[in-house]
Amino acid sequence: MISRKTPHVEDLSANPFKEDFPLLSSNPQLAFLDSAATAQRPRSVIEAQAEFYRTTNANALRGLYGLSMRATAAIADARSAIARAIGADDPCEVIACRNASEALNMAATAFAGSILREGDEVCITVMEHHSNLIPWQQVCKASGARLVYLYPDEQGVITPDEMDAKIGPRTRIVAAAHVSNVLGIENPIAELARRVHERGGYLVVDGAQSVPHMRIDVAALDCDFFAFSAHKAFGPFGIGILWGRRALLEAMPPFLTGGEMISRVTQESASWAPIPEKFEAGTQDAAGLVATAVGLRYMEEIGMEAIRRRERALMRACTDALFALPFIEPVGDVDPERRHGVVAFNVAGIHPHDVASILDSCDVAIRAGHHCAQPLLAWMGVESCCRASLAFYNDERDIAALVDGLNTVWRTFHG
Ligand code: ALA
Repeated sequence: MISRKTPHVEDLSANPFKEDFPLLSSNPQLAFLDSAATAQRPRSVIEAQAEFYRTTNANALRGLYGLSMRATAAIADARSAIARAIGADDPCEVIACRNASEALNMAATAFAGSILREGDEVCITVMEHHSNLIPWQQVCKASGARLVYLYPDEQGVITPDEMDAKIGPRTRIVAAAHVSNVLGIENPIAELARRVHERGGYLVVDGAQSVPHMRIDVAALDCDFFAFSAHKAFGPFGIGILWGRRALLEAMPPFLTGGEMISRVTQESASWAPIPEKFEAGTQDAAGLVATAVGLRYMEEIGMEAIRRRERALMRACTDALFALPFIEPVGDVDPERRHGVVAFNVAGIHPHDVASILDSCDVAIRAGHHCAQPLLAWMGVESCCRASLAFYNDERDIAALVDGLNTVWRTFHG
């Protein structure tokens, strides 16, 4: 069925995808342009989660009966599928948690917290989502390490000169968004990896905004940790993944402690289970993990190259139409060819919250505000902005609805 969908993937007048998404197909008037906040879910994901509860529901790892063992096997299968989807050879390197924020907190607190010493440096970009910024602020405060920022040039690019100036002998960690949730730009992850590894440090990548848009291969990226959330990748809420190199995961202390993450417990102390259980205290969301794997498989079935081609066509069409409106002020001067999924803008003299509210009355859903990236916005001299975000299930009608809605916004204020 999917191959039938992909030959004319760049034809934005056709939309073979919406029928797979119950919310979109039952709300044909809705132009959903907020997929960077959370994606819509295909029927297969919704069904997989329900099917787990219908057929396999028991507490995994604990029960010595068939149903519990099937739940345990379902988690193991899902973990293997998630590992394959991100290019990881070893499923034990895939740690399940609640969301990308928790995954990044785990890398910062448990990993970095155990290696950072006073005088060390942690280098992050100014375009980080708060999820990949505040944990580093906190661990630097606790350890006495210094937080150093990488700044992009006018085109949103972290240049080789900037990397050379900031990544030095004291750099122990570089942490960077793979794709910025405001600018949509892909950061030079392999370049960052090379520089920090040459100095004996480690690279943590926030993949929350890249996993939905491109093929991920943690081996090719050469990172040490990679975090993402399922709900932006067509999977369920409540699941985040931290992939990490086995040796680092084995060496670092647990992040949360409690049930099923132990080897042995006495009144005085405890020893830890092997990875991944060492980092998965408490009952796991088995249904969510199963559905996460189904969401990733759904993308693979369409094909990441086909997704990329359609999203490129959508981004070109969206930025051409948007920036042709005389009252639109682009936020971030990123070449549309290098934007992944998001376009940020303002409407001259109109608060982004007003823009989003009026667009809502036109059945157009976008995000407005600081986008959990206040340091980036402050650095760009922008208080807040609007953000339209795209996925392969969008089409030319969604873009036309956005443009019509923005004309309505303008007329509402200017007659
Ligand atoms: N992190 C999500 C976003 O950027 C919520 O919208």
